[in-house]
Amino acid sequence: MKEFFHRKIERNAIGFVLAIVGVASIGGLVEIAPLFTIHETVEEAPDMRLYTPLELAGRNIYIREGCYACHSQMIRTLRDEVERYGPYSLAVESKYDHPMLWGSKRTGPDLARLGGKYSDAWHVAHLMNPRDVVPESVMPRYGWLKRNALRIDDLGEHLAAQRDVGVPYTDAMIENAVADARGQANPDGPEAGGVAERYGEATNVRAFDGNPGTLTEMDALVAYLQIVGQLTQAAHQETAAKEE
Ligand code: HEC
Repeated sequence: MKEFFHRKIERNAIGFVLAIVGVASIGGLVEIAPLFTIHETVEEAPDMRLYTPLELAGRNIYIREGCYACHSQMIRTLRDEVERYGPYSLAVESKYDHPMLWGSKRTGPDLARLGGKYSDAWHVAHLMNPRDVVPESVMPRYGWLKRNALRIDDLGEHLAAQRDVGVPYTDAMIENAVADARGQANPDGPEAGGVAERYGEATNVRAFDGNPGTLTEMDALVAYLQIVGQLTQAAHQETAAKEE
């Protein structure tokens, strides 16, 4: 009986094509149908702010150094993950992440809720030599970050490229990208005020690497690490709402 069915359908070209289309479209429907409800599934985050030029530069260093190969930035909706790392990741939190850095490989811990967990000095010490602060660590050292001057002349173009893929940077943000990068790492300098003006009062303006006089790759990377998971409080609000 089974063989008879096969022989019949395989000899009928049009019927076979229709059968293939029918079976293949099941997979298509499973992928496409949820997209019709995307407006309900992706949460709103009206408090979401943009990465500053310095944080974006730090994010680029994070990608350049391959930190994502050992660290994910995506907390799954599993109890053990939520208990270890904090509220699970929401889609809206990576709205401005181009490219996204969710990752899946975890040689080190997930970093999605890292911002504000440690001091800047802790991050600098940890990146210089992880064993100084976590004796059993297998993370590599990144000592050159503190020696390398940060390249900032092309930051305006980086912002403009992000705008092209949908991040709402304004003309003023793009024009002042270089000044804002210097200002964010030099709180007492003349350019610090513009950062808060353009990115909000809550923006961290500090000498991230401990030295306000020089702008290093360490400044940028630590500025970025301190904002991971802090662009919006939507995930914390969602958890609080569920607990009520
Ligand atoms: C070879 C894998 C590996 C790479 C590459 C790596 N890390 Fe790690 N990382 C680890 C491990 C393992 C730990 C846990 C031990 C520790 O805290 O040092 C860790 C811990 C951390 C922590 C502390 C997290 C917490 O919540 O305690 C931070 C922050 C961090 N890494 C940042 C980075 C950054 C930034 C880079 C890229 C410059 C990087 N890591 C690259 C393996 C790695």
